Amino acid sequence: MTAAAPLNLFDYEALAQPLMHPAVWDVIVAGAADEITVAENRRAFDRLTIRPRMLVDVSAIDTATRVLGAPVAAPILIAPSGYHAVLCPEGECATAQAAGRAGIVMTAPSGSHRTIEDIAAAAIGPLWLQLYLFPERERSLAMVRRAEAAGCLAIVLTVDAPRFGRKDRSLRSENDFDWPESGNLAGLPPPTLPWFRGAPVTWADVDWLSGVTRLPILLKGILTAEDAALAAAHGVEGIVVSNHGGRQLDGVTASIDALPEVVAAAGDHCEIYLDGGVRRGTDVLKALALGARAVMIGRPVLWGLAVAGPAGVADVLAILANELAFAMALSGRPTIADIDRTVVR
Ligand SMILES: Cc1cc2nc3c(=O)[nH]c(=O)nc-3n(C[C@H](O)[C@H](O)[C@H](O)COP(=O)(O)O)c2cc1C
Repeated sequence: MTAAAPLNLFDYEALAQPLMHPAVWDVIVAGAADEITVAENRRAFDRLTIRPRMLVDVSAIDTATRVLGAPVAAPILIAPSGYHAVLCPEGECATAQAAGRAGIVMTAPSGSHRTIEDIAAAAIGPLWLQLYLFPERERSLAMVRRAEAAGCLAIVLTVDAPRFGRKDRSLRSENDFDWPESGNLAGLPPPTLPWFRGAPVTWADVDWLSGVTRLPILLKGILTAEDAALAAAHGVEGIVVSNHGGRQLDGVTASIDALPEVVAAAGDHCEIYLDGGVRRGTDVLKALALGARAVMIGRPVLWGLAVAGPAGVADVLAILANELAFAMALSGRPTIADIDRTVVR
């Protein structure tokens, strides 16, 4: 270990920046507009304090849990994001391998550089597919069928991007880089509409999707009790409480602040996940205390990839899981089942 060896996810961020083309860095870290929600995602975690229990036997800590019934080593998943191939030649295949070795789920983005078939072949663990609906249903359906055939265990439908967020930080510089094409989208029927600037989804589309696949469906991007209740009424298996890492509408609630109302409205009917600003094991502990089954991490995975390829992703995941185990020990909650609402004030 050198003196500069990263100790935590913030160290990975600092190490990654000088290794990335400035335009790539800007696109990855950017949030919408003034990045108020990006900052708030972190501040809201910091505001929550922990109520530790003492004199509990914490000689054995077990972070294992289940997501949609599948066993995982820790309540941490990889959020869907693009740009893996810009940071590491093996792209999403490298990330999938690291996730599998860590015993956790990777969510592959529909706009991946490598195809979902390649990612599934590289993955040694469970894979979920994130779906943006296309204006043409046959394209969406083709993507779903490919995910099913590749062995994906769930479809994560992103519902917070009827238009793609305006990220001022990267708007000026994003054309300074030659972005690789998505090999995954190339395998779909060609688009019939000349362009689209977002993925508008309505509840009718959710019903359509449930009607064409038997895979469990999670809605990613829900932030209110109203929408959570509708999600439950439409029979989805999961919700990801998310503001897209602050990349869509600036000024929306921090994910961790939205979590309790979503859990109250839908937690008895489906599994609730959370992403946005998760950087510490204590953040994972707080999210689970407020009712999340597991968290997803976005940008830190890309920092790991930039710093050391799949080994960097593996290290990011190990650091976070170890921090969680440490937090569980010092808060007197040796298993995931011991983490309840009383953990946070
Ligand atoms: C560079 C980048 C690309 C992303 N691409 C997608 C995407 O294609 N689909 C999607 O649903 N979310 C996408 N997201 C959002 C992530 O899935 C996730 O919600 C967010 O990154 C979590 O916040 P965090 O980065 O603070 O961990 C992207 C995020 C980043 C940073």
